[in-house]
Amino acid sequence: MERLEGNTHAIEGDIMSQKESALAPVPDEVGHHYDRFAVIAATKPGDNLHVGYWDSPDSEVPAEEAADRLTDMMAEKLTIGAGSRVLDLGCGVGGPGVRIARLTGAQVTGISVSQEQVKLANSLAESAGLADRVVFQQANAMELPFPAQSFDAVIALESIPHMPDRGQVLAQICRVLRPGGRLVLTDLFERAPIPAAKQPTVDRFHNAFMSTMVQAEDYPPMLRRAGLWFEEILDISEQTLRKSFLWFSARMNQAQPGLETTFGDTMADRFDTADMADIPEYGYLMVVAKRPEE
Ligand SMILES: C[S@@+](CC[C@H](N)C(=O)[O-])C[C@H]1O[C@@H](n2cnc3c(N)ncnc32)[C@H](O)[C@@H]1O
Repeated sequence: MERLEGNTHAIEGDIMSQKESALAPVPDEVGHHYDRFAVIAATKPGDNLHVGYWDSPDSEVPAEEAADRLTDMMAEKLTIGAGSRVLDLGCGVGGPGVRIARLTGAQVTGISVSQEQVKLANSLAESAGLADRVVFQQANAMELPFPAQSFDAVIALESIPHMPDRGQVLAQICRVLRPGGRLVLTDLFERAPIPAAKQPTVDRFHNAFMSTMVQAEDYPPMLRRAGLWFEEILDISEQTLRKSFLWFSARMNQAQPGLETTFGDTMADRFDTADMADIPEYGYLMVVAKRPEE
């Protein structure tokens, strides 16, 4: 895991927005995409919809366990415990939120733009016997329906890449966090310039999964503008991406008949994530930040 030095060089906001506006995802469309995706259990590592974390490329740890490990690593950064109020921003089908509640005793509120995911996530909380502490609801992270300072911590596990404006989401997160509250998120980023020959694959990937990427050095100024202090940025690409892309490709290919029925022609033109496995310039970040004490 490579720790990136905090870069205090200020980057003008319009550089970010130009990068993001190229393929800015539309929340309703992202919700519709995940509605269809939610029902296909075979394409998910357990109840997770995110990459796994493996110590080495040869690790034989199953994807489900590696995905839970990433959740646990992030939860640890939140320094939460029994009674903490946690917002799971972009909750998927509930695996991370339920796991965090079970392991820490926290109360979790999860949101997703996908109604189908919210239904599955609430069923999961119920079957885990945690429905009194874990609640999922449909909401858009761009306009959070919560009062100011209503959470002690926010986790955004692989959801930010699907949102149209990172600055706006971060400002919303800052508003709902109490002073001293912490944020941990993961995001997609350009580790090194993507070679021209690989750019079309990256573009197709972003288009298929309705996501965008950033530059790592954009994070500290973006957080500052939103009112948050940046604590840590970790490049965890090596531990996450390649094996996850290959795992997902294999599962998608196995589930292909089901996918054709469910997604018809619209599903990502059946983009094969194995095509992304050998683009080391493409990366995966973990970012830790906090709202400063008043
Ligand atoms: C890759 S999935 C990750 C799900 C979950 N965090 C996990 O790790 O299993 C991305 C999630 O972000 C949610 N999402 C994307 N855009 C959103 C938005 N504008 N507001 C709320 N949720 C959003 C999607 O609905 C989906 O649940």
